[in-house]
Amino acid sequence: MCGIVGIVGHSPVAPLILDALKRLEYRGYDSAGVATIEHGQLSRRRAEGKLVNLERRLKEEPLDGMIGIGHTRWATHGVPNETNAHPHFSDGVAIVHNGIIENFAELRDELTADGYVFTSQTDTEVVAHLVARELARGATPVEAAHNTLKRLEGAFALAIMFKGDEDMIVGARNGPPLAVGHGESEMFLGSDAIALAPFTNSITYLEDGDWAVVRRNSIAIYDMDGNKVHRKRQQSVGTSFLVDKGNHRHFMEKEIHEQPEVISHTLAHYLDFAGGKAKAFEMPFDFASIDRLSIAACGTAYLAGLISKYWFERYARLPVDIDIASEFRYREMPLSKSSGAMFVSQSGETADTLASLRYCRSGGLKIGSIVNVRESTIARESDAIFPTLAGPEIGVASTKAFTCQLSVLASLAVRAARERGAISADDERTLVRQLSEAPRYASQVLKLDQQIEKVARELAQVRHVLYLGRDTSYPLAMEGALKLKEISYIHAEGYAAGELKHGPIALIDESMPVIVIAPHDRVFEKTVSNMQEVAARGGRIILVTDQKGAKHATVKTMETIVLPDVPELIAPIVYALPIQMLAYFTAVFMGTDVDQPRNLAKSVTVE
Ligand code: F6R
Repeated sequence: MCGIVGIVGHSPVAPLILDALKRLEYRGYDSAGVATIEHGQLSRRRAEGKLVNLERRLKEEPLDGMIGIGHTRWATHGVPNETNAHPHFSDGVAIVHNGIIENFAELRDELTADGYVFTSQTDTEVVAHLVARELARGATPVEAAHNTLKRLEGAFALAIMFKGDEDMIVGARNGPPLAVGHGESEMFLGSDAIALAPFTNSITYLEDGDWAVVRRNSIAIYDMDGNKVHRKRQQSVGTSFLVDKGNHRHFMEKEIHEQPEVISHTLAHYLDFAGGKAKAFEMPFDFASIDRLSIAACGTAYLAGLISKYWFERYARLPVDIDIASEFRYREMPLSKSSGAMFVSQSGETADTLASLRYCRSGGLKIGSIVNVRESTIARESDAIFPTLAGPEIGVASTKAFTCQLSVLASLAVRAARERGAISADDERTLVRQLSEAPRYASQVLKLDQQIEKVARELAQVRHVLYLGRDTSYPLAMEGALKLKEISYIHAEGYAAGELKHGPIALIDESMPVIVIAPHDRVFEKTVSNMQEVAARGGRIILVTDQKGAKHATVKTMETIVLPDVPELIAPIVYALPIQMLAYFTAVFMGTDVDQPRNLAKSVTVE
C-alpha cells in the first residue's frame, strides 16, 4: 500500500525522504513523489513507476528545502501516472495520502460546484482542495486541517504541509498506520518504523482518529473533537534489524533461507524444549473452557490459519471456524462468549483482519493475535499477542512469516491439547520434540535448490498449473498456487485432491503440470489414487513427497522431489519451503519483479 514520509528537518530533506521511501518500497507501489518548501514556495517532483525514476527526476531538478513530504503510491482511484502521483497541491497546500476517501465523489461534486478544478483522478485531491477552501475561508492551517478531517469518511493516513509554515506538518490517521519519529530538533512522520529507521527509533504511534501537529521541537496530538491526547513514546523493536539483501538476489530468496533460524527462534519462544512442554504465558482466553476457536485472516496468513484448524481439531479436540477476513467481517456471524477469537497477520495492519477483530471485540470476545509487527494496530488492539519472530519481511510474497505463523499455531495447538486434557504428558513431550526438529529439516530442504530450480525451468514454460493435496497439504496446495501466481503471473489453482473428480479433472491434459504435495501420511494412499486419475488422463505430475512416499507412489511422475521423512505435525512447515522455492525460481526464470510483483502491496490497509 501507499507509503508516507514527512520530515521537518535542519538540512535539505529531499535526499532523506527518498532514502525513507526506498525503505517503504517493499509495501508495493506504482509511482512516487516528493514535495518540499523551497524559497517559500511549494515544489514537487513526481514520477510514474519505480523510485529510480523519481531519483532521476530529482537529479535533473534537485529540490531544496528543510521541510518536505514524500509518497509511494499504490493506485486505488486513477491509473498509476505522474498526474495521479502524490503529493497533490491546492493553493499553498501539499498532501500525501494512504487509504481511500469513501465520500470523495460527493466531496468532489461539492468542490467542483465551488469552482475547484481537479487535475487528477484521485480521491486524494479532494483533501487538498478541502484544506485550501478552509484556508480561503479564513481558517488557520491547523484549523483547516482539523475541519477537513471531520469531513472525511473512509480509512486514511495523511501528511499535510502548508506554504506559509516551514516548521509544521500535520499528520492524521484513521485506519492505515502513521508513526511520528522523534529526532534532535527534527521530527519525522512515516507509515512505519522501518521507514524512519535511519533517522530515529524513538517512535510515537498515532491511534485511529488521532491527528498531530508535528514541528521541529514539538509534537501535539489531538482527537477528532480537538482534545489533546497523550500517546506514549517508545523504542521501536523492528528498526534494529538490518534491512538489506545480503548476498541474495532478492529479499524473497533471503527470507526463504532465513527460515531455519527464524522458525527456531519462534518455536523457542513458545516451547520449553528441555522440559518437553508448551510454555504457559498470558492467554486472552482459557483453552480448557472455550468450546470453539474462531480464526480470521487474509491470503497466506489465512492459509496458515486453515492448516492450524487440522492441528487444533486433531490434537486439542477444539473445533475451529476459519474465515477469510473480508468475508467474516460482513457475514454477521453470531458470536458466543464461550469462543476464543484469533487473528493472524504478518503486518498487523490488514484492514479486513482488523475489522474482523473489531467485530469480535464488539461482541465481547477476548482476542489473541499472531503478528510479526509488534507495534501494529492489530497487536495493540488485542488482549494478548503471540509474536512471530520472523524479523522484517520485505518481499511482498510472504515466506518466513508464514512458517513462523505455523510455528506459533502448532505450539498453541500443543498447549491447547494439554490444557484440554486431550494429550498425555508423554504425547506433549513427543510433539514438542517433533516441532524442535523443524528447523533442521528446513535446512535440509534448502539444499534441494538445484533440483527445484530444474523443475521451475519447466514451469516457466506453461500458463496453468494445478496443485493438489489432502489434509494439511490441501491448504499448502493453495499456498503453492498463491505463491506461484503472485510472483510469476502463471495461473495456478490449489485443490483438495479428493475434489479433483468433482470438476477440475476436466482441465487435465498433457500441457497441464499437476504438483502433488503428498508426505507419506495418513491420507497418502488416497492421494496416490488421485494421482492415478491424473496420470490416466495424460497429466504431468510433479510429486513433492518424502522417502517413504517416493518408494510407495506407484505413479509415473515427471519429477519427484524427495524431502526427508518428517513427523506429520511438522510436515506443513517443512513442505512450505519447496513450494516457495518452486515459485521463486519460476518467477526468476520468467524475469518478473520478484520482490515487488505487479499490482500487489505488502500491507493491505484498504478493503
Ligand atoms: C501472499 C501474501 C498475502 C498476505 C495477506 C495478509 O504471499 O503475502 O496474501 O498474506 O495480504 O497480510 P498480513 O499477513 O499482513 O495480514
